[in-house]
Amino acid sequence: LAPEALFQGRPNSRGFDLTDDDTLARIDEARRAARIAPDQGPLTVSDPTGEKRAIANPATGEVLAQVLMADADTARRAVADAQPWDAPPSERARVLHRAADLYEDEFGAIFALLAQEAGKTLPDAVGELREAVDFLHYYASEGEARTESPRGVIAAISPWNFPLAIFTGQIAAALMAGNAVLAKPAEQTPLIAGLAVSLLHKAGVPRTALQFLPGDGGTVGAALTSDPGVNGVVFTGSTETARLIAQSMAQHLAPGAPLIAETGGLNAMIVDSTALPEQAVRDIVASSFRSAGQRCSALRCLYLQHDVAPQVIEMLTGAMDELTVGDPWPLSTDVGPVIDAEAQQGIDSYLDARANRILHRLDRPEGGHFVAPTLVQVDGIADLDREVFGPVLHVATYRARDFDQVITDVNARGYGLTFGLHTRIDSRVQEVADRICVGNTYVNRNQIGAIVGSQPFGGEALSGTGPKAGGPNYLPRFLAPQPAPQPA
Ligand code: NAD
Ligand code: ALA
Repeated sequence: LAPEALFQGRPNSRGFDLTDDDTLARIDEARRAARIAPDQGPLTVSDPTGEKRAIANPATGEVLAQVLMADADTARRAVADAQPWDAPPSERARVLHRAADLYEDEFGAIFALLAQEAGKTLPDAVGELREAVDFLHYYASEGEARTESPRGVIAAISPWNFPLAIFTGQIAAALMAGNAVLAKPAEQTPLIAGLAVSLLHKAGVPRTALQFLPGDGGTVGAALTSDPGVNGVVFTGSTETARLIAQSMAQHLAPGAPLIAETGGLNAMIVDSTALPEQAVRDIVASSFRSAGQRCSALRCLYLQHDVAPQVIEMLTGAMDELTVGDPWPLSTDVGPVIDAEAQQGIDSYLDARANRILHRLDRPEGGHFVAPTLVQVDGIADLDREVFGPVLHVATYRARDFDQVITDVNARGYGLTFGLHTRIDSRVQEVADRICVGNTYVNRNQIGAIVGSQPFGGEALSGTGPKAGGPNYLPRFLAPQPAPQPA
């Protein structure tokens, strides 16, 4: 479907053409002019309490700001102060469309923060702003004709790897349904999230309907998900945290309160011997190493048919050698840092334990939280004992007769987010689509970067509860269920 069909006449955001020198100069000027407000922290109805924390650039270690992190009391007061957004759907839609325009106007500050706080390269930052804008327009359009009541108060808990797009998407859907939202960003990225909330307030979202609670997961997140005044939780993050939230909600919240959870993945791709190797290699590199591998959708386990494996691996290592790892600010950088020291150390020790299985590894720059793109040899996806959230690609080979077994093994691993297939056999595409248990399957392309409206995104099993974000089933989950029709 053309995006226009799903956006009710409103096309997806055009973004920025990074091949155009004038556009690049405009972006650079706006990024450099951006100033980080010195006094940052919760945006709540009652005065917040908590402790300040330094937020640092993951590429340089430079401290960007001291941010007041909310405490559990602040979270509880915010729940008590929250009031659903009592405006007609057409007015809510108008405000969210206006917020999308404000986001686009603020591209300089947004790109600066995405680079400095979240370590995003410019192409990634452009993609993220586009996705955030698309979410605002899409849910505004989807919700205008809905007549159901909101659920009440929604806690929105988000990760650092899409600190603008996922943060905004959760809030936009919950608000468009008329709920009050308590938005808790990840500990690592409160600055970009705070800017987003300021823009939503400026567009006209009432402060009682949207409060901002930067803080720790174990305190603010736990306080929100155990407060009986909360009527539902939308969460994106790790599978482990989703389990904790589900337990807390079961204990403390009303039985009908929904948990909308989008979680991790162990995503595979198969490249068979009919695939075009150049195209496959380009898509493998993008799927594994773009965003420094810090996408839930990223490729983690590549299966190569054994007769083409030596050629593809040789081309892949050659393509990896062309990647520039470093500070994400210059356009020449392909792979930025991982988010913090903990992430870097976790990936380093994972790779140290598999030193004898490393097929290829780039050098990394000094300083900053960098992890060099790395290939690790495995026998199959069963060897991956966890999601390694960084630029690490596991590679296995398979024989033609074992193709079905590969699909069985991927399904058996229990995750179900993305899957990639490179083949020129048409019947194989349908066969895989019928059997693979994932939310999003991509054929002869990379497996990241779902487009709001045309490619609803989300997983099943250990990868999430559904419904898919950016699709028609998402917003209705934030509305109170209609009573079943009574028999005449
Ligand atoms: P995380 O689970 O550590 O944290 C996510 C959020 O949960 C943060 O805001 C954190 O503060 C909060 N949190 C932590 N403990 C909590 C608790 N006990 N109660 C309530 N909230 C708590 O995840 P992360 O490291 O920020 O993000 C990376 C993970 O997110 C990866 O596993 C990735 O695959 C997943 N992810 C999934 C999707 C998707 O759409 N499926 C998208 C992006 C990221
Ligand atoms: N929606 C993001 C992607 O598709 C996570 O890569």
